[in-house]
Amino acid sequence: MSRILSGIQPSGALHLGNYFGMMQPAIALQERGEAFYFIADYHALTSVQNAARLREFTHGVALDFLACGLNPARACFFRQSDVPQVTELAWILSNVTPVPMLQNAHSYKDKTARGLPASAGLFTYPVLMAADILLYDSDLVPVGRDQKQHLEMTRDIAGKINELYGADLLKLPAPVIQETTAVVPGLDGQKMSKSYGNTIEIFLEEKALRKKVLGLKTDSTPLEAPKLTEDSTILALYRLVASPAEVEKMENEFRTGGVGYGEFKHRLFAAIWEYFAPMRARRAELLADAGAVERVLRAGAERARTVADSTLARVRKAVGLR
Ligand code: ADP
Ligand code: TRP
Repeated sequence: MSRILSGIQPSGALHLGNYFGMMQPAIALQERGEAFYFIADYHALTSVQNAARLREFTHGVALDFLACGLNPARACFFRQSDVPQVTELAWILSNVTPVPMLQNAHSYKDKTARGLPASAGLFTYPVLMAADILLYDSDLVPVGRDQKQHLEMTRDIAGKINELYGADLLKLPAPVIQETTAVVPGLDGQKMSKSYGNTIEIFLEEKALRKKVLGLKTDSTPLEAPKLTEDSTILALYRLVASPAEVEKMENEFRTGGVGYGEFKHRLFAAIWEYFAPMRARRAELLADAGAVERVLRAGAERARTVADSTLARVRKAVGLR
């Protein structure tokens, strides 16, 4: 049975890009193998440096993941820092990781270009991520396209370890990137991302969500005129949440003209609101049970630790630490 693993940083509220890029594919895969999903709180320390906020985001993202359909009876769901073994593996891996490879990481370059201080933690972020993946002998890693390079680095690092210490020591993972949702556009048409301030958070209150969606950037084509369907952010998002018939209707109205962007945005809002209704209900239920999330995470950590201990024992021995 294949092992599926993915993580999400608790660095803000869940948005449509996170949901369709990573969470939904991960939830779909939990039925097809042995899944390990975690909240990457060690990774979040690279950008969230306020204890109360980190705790709040960690709890929030765990709640969101469960509300969206992660089934703790099928998937092992845990908090990264509950299995500190991963930092030891990261240290071991860092000794075969070439500095130029890390200097070439898009994510590091983007983040420092946007003003995040170039800390050693941010720089070695991909090594910790490789450790996450390799510690659990993962076969498949569902992620959005922006994580593809991190998966390539993981394979490189595992390859180097295997070359040095034994051909089958670490398993080389494969990314799972769903092409239709690989890059979900944000309010301004760029990739939706917390760091671009263009996100639509899925669990916003109704009024706030409507306001966000209505703020989506459009061109100045007048109401009567036909509108371009290609590159339309409204349509790209609508395709994710509306039925095929509704999408076809909107596409036709784009082509013929006569309906304004304002009306399309109202429809987009309504479709988003309806799509996430069952998850909102589930989230409210979980919220009412104060200890529920913590119980799931603790049980998950216990199971994850067993796997982590066994991989780490194998690696320690192979590299000569025992
Ligand atoms: P952000 O860019 O908002 O900081 P993260 O880097 O925390 O998001 O991403 C968490 C997960 O969600 C990753 O697997 C990432 O690939 C996926 N993801 C984030 N934004 C998008 C997007 N716009 N389209 C597709 N997937 C996305
Ligand atoms: N870097 C990922 C992100 O920003 C989060 C992450 C950390 C992850 N460790 C991982 C994803 C291991 C998949 C596998 O979204």
